[in-house]
Amino acid sequence: KPDELGVVAVGFSGGQCKPGVDAAPSALISSGLLTQLHEELGYNLNHDNTVHSYKELMPQIDPDYRGMKNPLAVSAVTQKLSEQVYNQAKEGRCVLTLGGDHSIAIGTISGTAKAIRERLGREMAVIWVDAHADINTPESSESGNIHGMPVAFLTGLATEKREDIFGWIKDDNKISVKKLVYIGLRDIDRGEKKILRDNGIKAFSMHDIDRHGIGKVMDMALGHIGNDTPIHLSFDVDALDPMWAPSTGTPVRGGLTLREGDFIAECVHETGSLVAMDLVEVNPTLEPGVNDIGAQQTVRAGCSLVRCALGETLL
Ligand code: ARG
Ligand code: MN
Ligand code: MN
Ligand code: MN
Repeated sequence: KPDELGVVAVGFSGGQCKPGVDAAPSALISSGLLTQLHEELGYNLNHDNTVHSYKELMPQIDPDYRGMKNPLAVSAVTQKLSEQVYNQAKEGRCVLTLGGDHSIAIGTISGTAKAIRERLGREMAVIWVDAHADINTPESSESGNIHGMPVAFLTGLATEKREDIFGWIKDDNKISVKKLVYIGLRDIDRGEKKILRDNGIKAFSMHDIDRHGIGKVMDMALGHIGNDTPIHLSFDVDALDPMWAPSTGTPVRGGLTLREGDFIAECVHETGSLVAMDLVEVNPTLEPGVNDIGAQQTVRAGCSLVRCALGETLL
């Protein structure tokens, strides 16, 4: 059902230390994103009209575990989110999740991966657009922030037996490192470089984009995934240069232009294989500019990325 869109709004910031990223879904929605998707792009939205904060799932105490910060909270929230996204995806809807920090991808990707396996008997691919690889294991992480670890848990490179700390992620929730492609990387921790190399993970850094241009990079990225493979697009707004998206927790200079970001999303749409998209790490309260110009710009850029991935065209 290409005209049916599931929407999940996740106001969660526990995967990192800066407050405010939980305010992103409301900011994106008040700026008109969902109305545009319905009125301009013609989607029937399946949305509970709630920005979930999952307060009822927050533990009283949540001590560090294997160096991870807020492990019980992030695990509980992503487990619940996984079920929400699964329930949308199993009905054949494309699922849009508005985050939240990038730890929420543990929930979204585990949910779609399972639904796609059951519905189509296929393994889906993930295109991860980000300045960062977010593939730290708890042991390789220098920060302990779980938003730097989602890909490690989703690929099985990090595992944990405790059911209440990501042990709920089963094989059918996971993705293969072979079906993972990164675009936009430019700030990778030492341990992450080794993980990417040792596992032969396909990654296009800003260097590759400078060398080949974004058009060729998208051809190569989609070529790696192969035709007709369901795609989950996980878009961290910090992939964009801070010139276009300054209001984000871990900005890194030397990033994608607004058009390069939109182009990536347009190319993914053109495949006809998009099954889910995350937009994460918009933090409207982190505001380097005068008044809230930076926050407005970032929200506007985020909306544009989503509309492009869902079929908006220039002509
Ligand atoms: N690599 C750093 C870490 O592990 C930064 C991660 C930033 N991640 C993000 N989703 N913005 O802490
Ligand atoms: Mn990032
Ligand atoms: Mn770094
Ligand atoms: Mn990220």
